[in-house]
Amino acid sequence: MLNPIGLTHGHYECRALDETLPIFTDLLAMQVLERGKGQAVVRHPNTSWRLVVHEGGPDAPDKPHNNHYGVRVARPAEVDAAHEYLEANKARYGLKRVSRPSAQHFARSIYFSEPGGNTLEIEYYDPQAAEGRGIAAPHWQRELAESDFPGRGYVPQALTHGTLECHDKDASAAFYRDVLGLQIAGGGRISVYIKHPATPWYLVVLPMPKRKKQLRPVNRFTLTLASADDVEKAHRELGSKATELQAIERGEGCTSFLFADLDHNWWEVRA
Ligand SMILES: [Fe+2]
Repeated sequence: MLNPIGLTHGHYECRALDETLPIFTDLLAMQVLERGKGQAVVRHPNTSWRLVVHEGGPDAPDKPHNNHYGVRVARPAEVDAAHEYLEANKARYGLKRVSRPSAQHFARSIYFSEPGGNTLEIEYYDPQAAEGRGIAAPHWQRELAESDFPGRGYVPQALTHGTLECHDKDASAAFYRDVLGLQIAGGGRISVYIKHPATPWYLVVLPMPKRKKQLRPVNRFTLTLASADDVEKAHRELGSKATELQAIERGEGCTSFLFADLDHNWWEVRA
């Protein structure tokens, strides 16, 4: 079993950074930490999970709805305010679709499609929900004030989750727990939530029996291990367990490899 020190990055493919970075900064209260040629790193000030945004060019495909990321607001009415703001600014940001607020047991959320081919979510989640503390409890130490993200009527307080599709949620949950060393953090009849024990952000694993579209490796989650040696060991271990395994890359100060899980979702292991 791998012993990751963190679920540290998500890798996210868009079409053009100039179109997609303003979505993160202006609509989701995230910050650009680095920008290079064809790649940028963004994060929310309350979440140390980093998103590495890759510029895939105009032909980068649309990603399925069930491969979205979501931010959380502190009050349910902010979801309605976000809907209003996004509708009013749809053309300015090239949004293709903004859904109406919908309620699902403990949550209220909207989804929208950004021009880079991805769905994003703005959700409220009842902190009293009995779905495990890590999921429902606020994902922030300090609530951002309206003045930190003024003029929209809503304030994203944290980047809370990403999502994955699978065929068999029990088999996938066992893989994520017993092979990747992640924690089952809740879920119910439909989905399973997985996370690293040390951090609140989580991945929703959704069964999708008639899954049509697999993602390219540029869309992936990163597990960071303590040492290059651990990465070499993990590579040997995943040899018999991954559906696809790429060679180890040994760069300056970074050893890493990519693999695909039971359902061909891509992961990166690095130190
Ligand atoms: Fe979601």
